[in-house]
Parts: sequence; structure tokens; C-alpha cells
Amino acid sequence: MKLIIDDANLEKIKQVYEYFPVSGVTTNPTILTKSGKLPYDVLFQIRKFIGDDQELHAQVIADNAEDMIKEAHTMLTMLGDNTFVKIPVTREGLKAIKALKKEGVNITATATYSAVQAYLAAEAGADYVAPYVNRISNLAQDGVGVVRDIQDIFRNNNYKTQVLAASFKNAYQVIELAKYGIGAATINPDIIESLVQNASVAAAVQTFSEDFHSAYDSAYNRAFKEAASMELE
Ligand code: E4P
Repeated sequence: MKLIIDDANLEKIKQVYEYFPVSGVTTNPTILTKSGKLPYDVLFQIRKFIGDDQELHAQVIADNAEDMIKEAHTMLTMLGDNTFVKIPVTREGLKAIKALKKEGVNITATATYSAVQAYLAAEAGADYVAPYVNRISNLAQDGVGVVRDIQDIFRNNNYKTQVLAASFKNAYQVIELAKYGIGAATINPDIIESLVQNASVAAAVQTFSEDFHSAYDSAYNRAFKEAASMELE
């Protein structure tokens, strides 16, 4: 399961890239507004930082197919071919997905709250479908279960479309979907950081270090002194 960053804050993106095995960045219009920068300025900076071989997913704003297609063309010109155009799975969105796939554009079908939307987007040829795990759970449905159903639909129909699960709020949601073998998860930097915050791990690492140093420090000091005196001779 690829790990992707769901954010447009360049400093946070750089921080996550330094430590975690990530494969790209996703944004949505709300995330872009939080960056405090103009949309293409921030998207261009992200592309420059991650490089052309990493995935960048950016969403169209238009609500009709014709304008979605125009936006997609602008996006590819500005951000390069390895950009996944995020298109909501609406009636107009499906029309745009079908047209853009005929041109070979990479598509991430987004705003997915149901398995039936995912089925339609896959049938229309989307490369990724992004179901919103936590937002589905907030509607008193099983967010993880809906994503599993989507994965089953893709497998049983031999669709090439991959699941790009989005809207995570905890590590349990992440690992349940990794166990199920979905293609990718896009997660905000705070949740990514939380995946390695574990008090038991920190305590174990500290105990190993303390035990080792209390037993061997003096022996090491002697060895270093001997080595230093040999160098002087
Ligand atoms: C990604 O495609 C989605 O826009 C994003 O993950 C939604 O996350 P949220 O539910 O935390 O806003």
C-alpha cells in the first residue's frame, strides 16, 4: 500500500519526506486554501520539491464536464504528466473522466462516499478511486468496510483501477486497509507522525540504551584510552 501525503504545507511535506517512505502528495481545494498561497504557486512548489517521478494529485474546481476537462489540461501543462487530476464522482465528473481517459490523462476519482460511485468511476476508466474512510464513518457507516467492498469490486471485475483511500483519522483505519491490500492511502502529516508514536516502543528503546551504557560505558572508555595511547606511541 503506497503511502501518500494529504497536505499542501510545503514544510510539513518536506518533514514527512525526510523520514517516511512516501510516494507522492494529494491535495484538495480546502487543503490548498489552508496553505495561504495561490493554488498554482503551492502546487508548483510541491511538484518542484517532490520531483517528476512522484505522484501529485490535484482537484478540479468546475462543476461541469467541459470546464473540468479544460482545468485538467491546464493542470498537466503547469504540473507535468505525472499529475493525477482529481475529479469528483458526480454525473458531470463521470463524463469528464471518460473524455480525459480517452486522452490518456491520469485520473483520481474523488469525493467517493459509496461503493456504487467507485464502481462507476472504475468502469469509466479512473486510475485511482479515493473513498473517504472517516467521512463515511461519520455518516454512521463502516468506512473501512466500504473500502474493502470497493477493493472486492475491483478485484472481481478485473479493473486496473486502484483504491486510494483518503480521509483517515487513526492508525486502526490505516492498518485495516493495509491488511486488505489496497493500492494506496493518503494521510495527513499529523496522522502519519502518529503511526510511529508509541510509548511502549520509546520506553523499550530507552531501556536498551540505558542497560547497554551502564554495563559497557566504562569498558568502552578504557578501550578508547588504550587506542588513543597506542596512536601516540
Ligand atoms: C483526499 O482526497 C481527500 O480530499 C481528503 O483525504 C479528505 O480528508 P478529510 O476528510 O480529513 O477532509
